Amino acid sequence: MSELTVVGLGPMGSTMAETFLAAGHRVAVWNRTESKTGPLVAKGARRAATAADGELLVISQIGYQAMYDSLGEAGLEGKVVVNLSSGTPDELREAAGWVAERGGTLITAGIMVPPPGIGKPGAYTFYSGPEEVLDRHAATLRALGEVTYVGEDHGLAMMYYQSQLLIFWSSLTSYMHATALLGTAGVAPKDFLPFASGIFTQLGGDGPMGYAKILADSFEAGVYPGEQNSLHMQAVGLGHAVEALEQAGLETTVPKALARLFERADAEGRGEEGLGTVIESIRKP
Ligand SMILES: NC(=O)c1ccc[n+]([C@@H]2O[C@H](COP(=O)([O-])OP(=O)(O)OC[C@H]3O[C@@H](n4cnc5c(N)ncnc54)[C@H](OP(=O)(O)O)[C@@H]3O)[C@@H](O)[C@H]2O)c1
Repeated sequence: MSELTVVGLGPMGSTMAETFLAAGHRVAVWNRTESKTGPLVAKGARRAATAADGELLVISQIGYQAMYDSLGEAGLEGKVVVNLSSGTPDELREAAGWVAERGGTLITAGIMVPPPGIGKPGAYTFYSGPEEVLDRHAATLRALGEVTYVGEDHGLAMMYYQSQLLIFWSSLTSYMHATALLGTAGVAPKDFLPFASGIFTQLGGDGPMGYAKILADSFEAGVYPGEQNSLHMQAVGLGHAVEALEQAGLETTVPKALARLFERADAEGRGEEGLGTVIESIRKP
């Protein structure tokens, strides 16, 4: 089994190091706050002398500045740096140049599970950068979950990761508004849960509520049929939902922002089209 160095021992990096150890790899660990290496060293990891101590560096930190701070002026000749930290796509592209200037190769990544999911069925990570370099380490990285290569452009892994998180954050925030609204009428979260779970599942499915697919087909075709449920009708309905939240004495920033976006698409003259026409307003802020 290969040796790798895990740099960054927050909840994610620590679990990654444990997962690599459990898969039989030789693991070195480095963290800015050295005390976090203790539990992993007790499980068989080697304490790395520096963040650049190793040929395969797997980084999981708060952001890309932490990588610069950790590696400092270390030479990276021949090393492969796989960074699973959050950043902006442009930051990742710039980081690829920074690593290359030091003689190394950067693979950027976005991991799609929280710590308890690392290495478990269903876990996957988006990777971008040079595919042949990723291929050399894919067998090792597979310990964390499925290796999903999305392209040469170093920014792509983060764009896929953030695209998933936009859906995660916005749908779960709406779920909180919904739970709070029903809560004002005495409905318990557990009583709403089956309906919330139902719509999450239906939206990703194939039926009449399978809107992920319905909209993807629309976006591909560039047409947004609205005969059966126009955007105008939905803008009016969303306005009513915002009023319902206000009447219940709740916070409305996000639903109001959604309502403004729908109203704008309507005011731009596309109210008779379907919901998918909103993407045209998103594309032209
Ligand atoms: N947690 C999740 O559910 C989850 C899921 C998917 C992806 N992610 C991503 O995974 C990454 C790690 O997340 P996390 O939850 O483990 O914890 P985190 O709070 O995002 O990061 C903690 C790590 O960053 C290090 N760090 C912060 N600033 C630093 C600096 N200037 N120099 C060196 N090290 C620095 C910390 O070192 P110290 O210990 O010394 O403070 C620690 O090792 C993040 O980018 C996050 O967005 C998280």
